Amino acid sequence: MANDPRLWWQDGVIYQIYPRSFQDSNGDGIGDLEGIRSRLDYLVELGVDAVWVSPFYPSPMADFGYDVANYTDVDPIFGILADFDRLIAEIHARGLKLILDFVPNHTSNQHPWFLESRSSRTNPKRDWYLWQNPASDGSVPNNWMSNFGGLGWTLDDTTGQYYYHSFLPGQPDLNWWNPEVRAAIYAAMRFWLGRGAKGRGVDGFRMDVIWLLIKDKHFRNNPPNPDWHGGDSMGSVLPKYTANQPETHTIVREMRALLDEYPERVLIGEIYLPIEELVTYYGGPELKGAQMPFNFQLILTAWEAPLIARLIQQYEAALPAGAWPNWVVGNHDQHRLATRIGAAQARVAAVLLLTLRGTPTLYNGDELGMPDARIAPDEVQDPAEKRQPGLGLGRDPERSPMLWENRENAGFTAPGVKTWLPLVWDWPGFTVETETADAGTMLKLYRELLRLRRARPALHAGSVSDVHEGNGVLHFMRTLGSERLQMHLNLTGNSQWTPSLEGQVLLSSGLDRAGEAVRNGLELHANEAVVVELS
Ligand code: GLC
Ligand code: CA
Repeated sequence: MANDPRLWWQDGVIYQIYPRSFQDSNGDGIGDLEGIRSRLDYLVELGVDAVWVSPFYPSPMADFGYDVANYTDVDPIFGILADFDRLIAEIHARGLKLILDFVPNHTSNQHPWFLESRSSRTNPKRDWYLWQNPASDGSVPNNWMSNFGGLGWTLDDTTGQYYYHSFLPGQPDLNWWNPEVRAAIYAAMRFWLGRGAKGRGVDGFRMDVIWLLIKDKHFRNNPPNPDWHGGDSMGSVLPKYTANQPETHTIVREMRALLDEYPERVLIGEIYLPIEELVTYYGGPELKGAQMPFNFQLILTAWEAPLIARLIQQYEAALPAGAWPNWVVGNHDQHRLATRIGAAQARVAAVLLLTLRGTPTLYNGDELGMPDARIAPDEVQDPAEKRQPGLGLGRDPERSPMLWENRENAGFTAPGVKTWLPLVWDWPGFTVETETADAGTMLKLYRELLRLRRARPALHAGSVSDVHEGNGVLHFMRTLGSERLQMHLNLTGNSQWTPSLEGQVLLSSGLDRAGEAVRNGLELHANEAVVVELS
């Protein structure tokens, strides 16, 4: 496939910005679009190619923007449409791409569509949402749950029917069986695709919870989960009728066909499913679905070399012919990489993410090695934590503000301002300023890796082979033409002698060993990952 025409989203690296936490420009303690614009040079210097920005649409912020009240505007917290136009113009002027987060599964309960829909049983938009009569005893229509805890049904007094919400009661699910709903969402997508200088618009979408889009027409009960032992209530049933329905694929294809009317746009889907199911979202052998169904397996798999080796093999083997892989190690819904696997292994993970075959997506702050923030009970913001406290489901820790400079509030907002979430407690060690000044920092490692990935066709476009593991060390090869690179990643805390093909060290996640000759093996330090160019 190396001789196919290459596309920007295949060769490039995506950087996720959680806008509330990236940069505040007006001193309210919450990040905004102007803030993002003021930090674009940082992204260029870092060496990423595309920016995915989490939602900034008008929203009551019940789920911090994932509850959209208007698909074609900007919330005043984040700015105005003119700020967006300036942002996209400056992103494109720097040769970067912009991917929008789009939330098609549900709206806010404040969206005019829902206000109409709930107003009467005969309203023309009644069928835009999932309304059902109460059961004969007045209780919920069936056992469908909410991902944020409890039942997924809320009774609306106005009309005496229940509506379904996969998430909060403030996030009613749209009825994707209804063609008017589809048309309305597709019109909103076109709005952004055509916006910007010369109608160039956004370069793609990250579609929120795309595998949940459509639900069983007959509202059948989900089967109980035999493996459930308490904890989050969502886990008590198997989502047989509320997730991954066959008809979802029709919708994904429609979205893809829409994007294909514009040059070089990308459709990314947020999908938490096992590999065999995940890869069906590429849209069959013709690849008419999402170009990149997000691959979260490195988040979901235990950080052990044999498991990761098997995972890479399974994923590569499961991909339909010609499908382009992708890898993710963190996002705004998951505990920080450095907290999950520790600071030392987070460096190994950086090497893995940026040397695997397929598009990497970085989450803002992971390039600094930021850990989770500690959130005191009275500082909790996330509804996932508020509705199911103490289960560790809260997402505030990974949404703590970016760390820029060594002054009060780390340059995220003006001094004296209360930030919407606390900074990580030992933040001065993680600022861009500190990590630019000091030697051997995570930021320097990311910059080096991003430079190397861009410079080396074997890394951004080559094949992957010889994936194997021994003594906790993960190995694989990347090859394009005569360029052959071999990765050795020590996932253990002990030094290890490891066999290697002959060549020389290009990069190490530890001490500077670039240029070191490799004969038939090398000594890896504890927690060290090394890239060797084979001769
Ligand atoms: C996705 C988002 C998450 C949000 C949920 C509901 O999983 O990533 O942040 O809460 O959808 O929209
Ligand atoms: Ca602000």
